[in-house]
Amino acid sequence: MLDRVFDESRELEKASGSDLVEELVELPPGSGNGSGSGNEEGFRGTEVGGMIVEFVHWEAKGRRMVEEAGFGLCLQDPKIASRSLADGRIDLQNENFLSQKKPNIHCFWAEIITNVKSTLFWGRNKIVMRKTTRLCSTKPIVTVNGQYPGPTLSAREGDTVLVKVVNHVKYNVTLHWHGVKQLRTCWADGPAYITQCPIQPGQSYVYNFTLTGQRGTLWYHAHILWLRATVHGAIVIKPKRHLPYPFPKPYKEVAVILGEWWKADTEAVINQAMKAGVAPNVSDAHTINGHPGQISSTCSSPQDGFKLQVKSGKTYLLRIVNAALNEDLFFKVAGHKLTVVEVDAVYTKPFTTDTVVITPGQTTNVLLTTDKTAGQYMVTASPFMDAMIIAVDNRTATATVHYEGTLAEASAITAVNVPPRNATSIATGFINSLRSLNSNNFPANVPKKIDHSLLFTIGLGINPCPSCINGTRFVAAMNNVSFILPTTAILQSHFFNKKGTFTTDFPGNPPVIFNYTGNGPTNLQTSTGTKVYRLTYNSTVQIVLQDTGIISPESHPIHLHGFNFFEVGRDVGNYDPKTSPSKFNLVDPIERNTIGVPSGGWAAIRFKADNPGVWFMHCHFEVHTTWGLKMAFLVENGNGLNESLPPPPGDLPKC
Ligand code: C2O
Repeated sequence: MLDRVFDESRELEKASGSDLVEELVELPPGSGNGSGSGNEEGFRGTEVGGMIVEFVHWEAKGRRMVEEAGFGLCLQDPKIASRSLADGRIDLQNENFLSQKKPNIHCFWAEIITNVKSTLFWGRNKIVMRKTTRLCSTKPIVTVNGQYPGPTLSAREGDTVLVKVVNHVKYNVTLHWHGVKQLRTCWADGPAYITQCPIQPGQSYVYNFTLTGQRGTLWYHAHILWLRATVHGAIVIKPKRHLPYPFPKPYKEVAVILGEWWKADTEAVINQAMKAGVAPNVSDAHTINGHPGQISSTCSSPQDGFKLQVKSGKTYLLRIVNAALNEDLFFKVAGHKLTVVEVDAVYTKPFTTDTVVITPGQTTNVLLTTDKTAGQYMVTASPFMDAMIIAVDNRTATATVHYEGTLAEASAITAVNVPPRNATSIATGFINSLRSLNSNNFPANVPKKIDHSLLFTIGLGINPCPSCINGTRFVAAMNNVSFILPTTAILQSHFFNKKGTFTTDFPGNPPVIFNYTGNGPTNLQTSTGTKVYRLTYNSTVQIVLQDTGIISPESHPIHLHGFNFFEVGRDVGNYDPKTSPSKFNLVDPIERNTIGVPSGGWAAIRFKADNPGVWFMHCHFEVHTTWGLKMAFLVENGNGLNESLPPPPGDLPKC
């Protein structure tokens, strides 16, 4: 069913095939894709020697990406090829495929390409990409393998994943595997200038990591500039072989990726805003699996957008990802309740709701039971933003759940009652219902004794900027530090003990105490720096994330790399160290990697620093990250190999 996403994009290609030109060109043997400087030797020799290797490919534009470039052990296995679909694709959703072969290594190619008529050489094939049209306007976008959203990366818990990323675009690129814990593989995490220098145009890098202790839905995205607007896709981690879900086995599983679409080039949008010192434009539409749906009567019809074909009387697992740049979203399906069973690749106590609330960075798995006999039901993604002075894209993306046997033209689509953008109570009700499953097999190991008790204010600020429109610019900060990305990667500097890239004096508390959720101090200026907070291996950390009312209170989706954390408490107003902890839930709090800190409120999170490396923490609103709402934890090595970060792979990009 996940293939539905792919099928649909292919459908669209066919529909407007005039731009699509393909020709075969003969390449000299070994010249491969005409790019890439990956350290294939080292890769071939060490990590994968002696293990069972699966070749699972991602594809570009329906063409097989069968490597002839000699990519080590990631060779096409003829036995798998025989199980592929008629058109040459491998059926990633075929259970037999996943279960028979005992895969524990998956090899993927991620070609980062701009789908304007650029040429991608793949083996013997030359593939010409075309521009993408949404909302009646056309622009080139950067994609993985020509797909928007990108292909789904599918594997099992415990599997090792190798992704060779080849950069064919004019931008520096990195990919981040959002929510993957990256146990002792910080080099594969991906945030540019934190854990790695970016992959430069024409270069490549192999991300190599193992999916340990997680199962469910995560996602990947570009982690540099605003490229993640179109460079993103789902990661599906199936349970280990023979292990069932802790909920009824769904009939089908579907990735539902929510996003935002700008008619303008997103790099131009943020560059302009940064020059002027003002907030960037909001998007022109939200999207569901790449499509706005019926956004206007001139550019679209009620039948437009992603269609989920269903059979009556079945249960579907929707793997919802919020890949939007700057907006929390409400998600609804007309006439149907949704049962939440997992968030951020952690099982939850199931609960039933009309409306899912999801921040950028978060994932939510829900069961949809098709308890109608026929008909078409609207699916919506609409913004949640309860700070009314903050501009928001108020357009609703639509899709349809289409029951088998229903004639599209003959039947009206049952509409959704979309929540208003400031429906705080709906959001709070949803968030307060989330609980860890906390079963014997999936316990909630909440740290009880805390070594580092931190309070971070999060919010905006205003700094002088003589060249800006108002003589000032908007910035954002944690504990009043607007984080500046260095020009080389922090992790490398740390590992090789090079001085001068960063300092270790990130403050554990706000520099001045004020009424945080009031109007703020008179001086709204922030300090700048590349400051990290040092943690010894295995220390336990509590962070109270306190929103400020500077300029405006606003909900911030805070994401921590490298760890899941427990959200032990949240409330509106200022955190009070004397009274607030008495209301903490230390039994079954939700465990995740991204939380929405309430507008004008706080959230307390706890985690154990059991993963050495440099781990980024930032607001997942891209505009706030750009403005400096970010910092990093430096987790030291413990004793012995299993508690230490190994040296970087040989192909780690250079700055
Ligand atoms: Cu989803 Cu630092 O990212």
